[in-house]
Amino acid sequence: MSDSESSSHAESPSHAESSSHAESSSHAGSSTEAERSGEWRRVASSEELGCEALIAGDERDYSVVWRTRSGSISAADSRCPHQLANLVHCGRVLGEELICQEHGWRFRNSGEGHKLSAQGRVDGKAALSMIAVRESEDAIWIRAELDTDS
Ligand code: FES
Repeated sequence: MSDSESSSHAESPSHAESSSHAESSSHAGSSTEAERSGEWRRVASSEELGCEALIAGDERDYSVVWRTRSGSISAADSRCPHQLANLVHCGRVLGEELICQEHGWRFRNSGEGHKLSAQGRVDGKAALSMIAVRESEDAIWIRAELDTDS
């Protein structure tokens, strides 16, 4: 993984340069370089992605980007691993989790999935397919690596 890639989510409560997971500023250079390289795609300004909010990564593919209450940013294939509901439309960010409102599966910033039973038991579920994301220069960037044919 290069210096510019995040593992799966970025924490950037200040909305400035991203921090521990994004490692954004050392390799990718300016946004102009990123745009030219085609490796990173700008999906929104930092302001457009508020706390406990989500946005579509791009209309051309399946991607969802969300920010948790603590300011952590994650990006993933927007197709829920349960029954492929589009999380851009069916997802809701609550606290530190992205919840698919179709059947209640919940996803942590790492993409790990689980569901809470009526008794409060945590049942492990399939994970989201994560996409590298970073926040820098007051913008959110994702890696365009999804297969848009499926
Ligand atoms: S489709 Fe997402 S929980 Fe069922």
